[in-house]
Amino acid sequence: MRIGFYNIQGGTGKTTISGNIAYYLSSKAKTLYIDCDIYAGTGSLLFGFEDTPYTLNSYLSGNLDINDIIHNYDELDVIISDTSPNSFNTDLNQRRMVDLIYELNNKYDIIIIDLPPNIVEGSLLFSSLNLDEKIVNKMIVIGEDSIPGVINTIKTKELLYAIDIDCIGVVLNKNRNIVEFEGILEDIIAVLPYEITVEDQWIKGEPVVLARNKFSKELSNLAEDLAEIYIKKDLASTRALKVAKDLKDTKSNIKK
Ligand SMILES: Nc1ncnc2c1ncn2[C@@H]1O[C@H](COP(=O)(O)OP(=O)(O)OP(=O)(O)O)[C@@H](O)[C@H]1O
Ligand SMILES: [Mg+2]
Repeated sequence: MRIGFYNIQGGTGKTTISGNIAYYLSSKAKTLYIDCDIYAGTGSLLFGFEDTPYTLNSYLSGNLDINDIIHNYDELDVIISDTSPNSFNTDLNQRRMVDLIYELNNKYDIIIIDLPPNIVEGSLLFSSLNLDEKIVNKMIVIGEDSIPGVINTIKTKELLYAIDIDCIGVVLNKNRNIVEFEGILEDIIAVLPYEITVEDQWIKGEPVVLARNKFSKELSNLAEDLAEIYIKKDLASTRALKVAKDLKDTKSNIKK
């Protein structure tokens, strides 16, 4: 199962939420977090990997293999983008990026894909149009509590609909009770409060989801809901397939 986190708007909390959800889920299932923002990625800072040269950018430039760029943070596997200005030398090779994700798809129960906000040509988001291969099975839209935030969230949902990407729902982040969003956005799956201590994660280089504050509590609840729906279901079907295959193998052995 590949779940993407997206909004056409920058700074809404995509990296914060996707990175922390990935960390939370990693104790329940084999999980990979990929920071796909190759020009402005900050996922590395969340996990303290900002100094490593083993990045998605190096892989895209053809210098490294897939296994070289997978880092471990506790039980979570992490692929990060280059935070340095060298990242601008990277060619956004959509084919190579999609191949990477499809190859890793079989190795993980869940892949969390942190997408960049832009909608430039060549963006991973449009792989379904250009390559006929969807980068994600499902998308979660991260919107922020502000007038521009709600407008861009509505636009994002329209865009996803237009390119036929399934949307699980909207996470309303940085809630400060600015917009009466309930009447405007129908499919809100979580509301996360504005919480200044969220910034600590960049200083400490570790996810905040286990901290004791309202933001982390609400985020854990969301991760729990996602685990319940997507991991259990996915694992159940994987197990069903395995049982069926074993049964088939036993039957063919009996015939022999
Ligand atoms: N609920 C919150 N309360 C307070 N600050 C938050 C909250 N969520 C995110 N932030 C802060 O907002 C900023 C942007 O967050 P983040 O980098 O996760 O957004 P993003 O959508 O990934 O940005 P980009 O579009 O640049 O990739 C960060 O400084 C982060 O700490
Ligand atoms: Mg980000």
